[in-house]
Amino acid sequence: MVWVAVDRRLNTPLTKQIFHQLQSKILNGDLKAGQALPSTRQLAADLQVSRNVVLEVYEQLMAEGYLEARQGSGTFVAEGALLKHPLTFESLPDSIKHTGTKMTEDIVNFRSGIPALELFPRKHWARLAQQVLSDTPGRSFGYGSPEGRYELRSAIAKYLYRTRGVRCHPDQLVITSGATQAITLVAKLLVNPGDHIMIEDPITNDIQTIFTSCGARLIPLPVDHSGIAADRLVTGAYHGSVYVTPSHQYPLGSILPIQRRVQLIEYARNTGSYIVEDDYDSEFRYEGPPIHSLQSLDPSVVIYIGTFSKILSPALRIGYLILPYPLVERCRMLKWFSDLHTPSLEQLILARFIEEGFLERHIRQMKKVYKQRRNFLRKVLGQCFGDSVQVTGDSTGLHLIAEFTGIRFTNEVLEQMLGAGVSVHGVEMHAIQKGRHENRIILGYGNLEEQQIEKGISRIKHVLDNIRK
Ligand SMILES: Cc1ncc(COP(=O)(O)O)c(C=O)c1O
Repeated sequence: MVWVAVDRRLNTPLTKQIFHQLQSKILNGDLKAGQALPSTRQLAADLQVSRNVVLEVYEQLMAEGYLEARQGSGTFVAEGALLKHPLTFESLPDSIKHTGTKMTEDIVNFRSGIPALELFPRKHWARLAQQVLSDTPGRSFGYGSPEGRYELRSAIAKYLYRTRGVRCHPDQLVITSGATQAITLVAKLLVNPGDHIMIEDPITNDIQTIFTSCGARLIPLPVDHSGIAADRLVTGAYHGSVYVTPSHQYPLGSILPIQRRVQLIEYARNTGSYIVEDDYDSEFRYEGPPIHSLQSLDPSVVIYIGTFSKILSPALRIGYLILPYPLVERCRMLKWFSDLHTPSLEQLILARFIEEGFLERHIRQMKKVYKQRRNFLRKVLGQCFGDSVQVTGDSTGLHLIAEFTGIRFTNEVLEQMLGAGVSVHGVEMHAIQKGRHENRIILGYGNLEEQQIEKGISRIKHVLDNIRK
């Protein structure tokens, strides 16, 4: 008898379960060349599955050459299908076995930049998805153009003009798979190996890596309570494009004042460089009027990047780039050679979502939720830590910075916190020049309800109290 196990509780179909087990037995030599397999009827009876299931598995194994049928005498393992060192899941290096961190249910995760996932506007989205699927002509199911659907580009251009003062024609837009791909395309557009890119310090590791992997040499410019130190822009032989998050610096949260914006624009004009404006989460501003985009000061020298990851959901993977005209054609080409285009149907759904006013309505509703969560987090931080904590950064976005007196958030401390059931990142991990932000942590609150916030902060307190003892 061939030992094969089937588990009906799994989502994996029975044919797949049986196929993979027989396949790996043949590859690793448990079933040897020339060995007879039980009849389909017999194996089906042994496994208590329908005969059709086993027939399908045998057919597939025969089609791929693992088995051969001999007229009148049955089914046998074929020659030459033994692999000396078959790859098993166990033999995969640890580094690629798990993608992403396993978060158990009970861990409070203060990861920044995650919106309230449970509040995704499913009902409206589902209705519009249904509409798009039923009334979109067949040709939309084919390959599209690299810049994305006109409907979405036009909806975004109007929305951005209304809300952020961004001035652009829909043809200056390229729809991307999130801001991450937008930054990757910009890096490819702007950087030749060895070129300099001036970048805020701190800024996310991912963004640093995107630029350096295109061969850029990063020139870190420090960030203070007013954003990037624009008076430190480097001219002469080391000049280069500048990457900034002016509406809400990530992670420190400062807003770039007009004087520094003007310095950036003048710098770009004088050196023939571009300013890359990553406007990743500024839709959620809780106090004061919305901040205008840097792009609106001079669209000919600013590349503007936006994303729907924070206002709707990171799972959508939709973002966009607004480019000065001379860069549009090359960017379209780079996008085409990267992944042809971003999925069309999602673009069409999103276009209707914006055009019918749901996006702005959703942002208004979410602003209330996030403001409440932010205030609650501030309150709990104050109650737990009193004067030893200071909240810094503008009242915008989905995270805040908590700055502690007398604490260094080393990797060891952050690991102790994880052990205590709370996941927190330090600002220091995003710093290029190390040693200046060790007392600061980033607390994302977008996806945490009040009771989780309370639980998470009390766990942080527990760990810090033990350290201070
Ligand atoms: C500053 C900044 N830019 C861009 C992104 C990327 O966003 P996405 O690729 O999900 O659109 C992030 C992610 O959190 C971010 O923090």
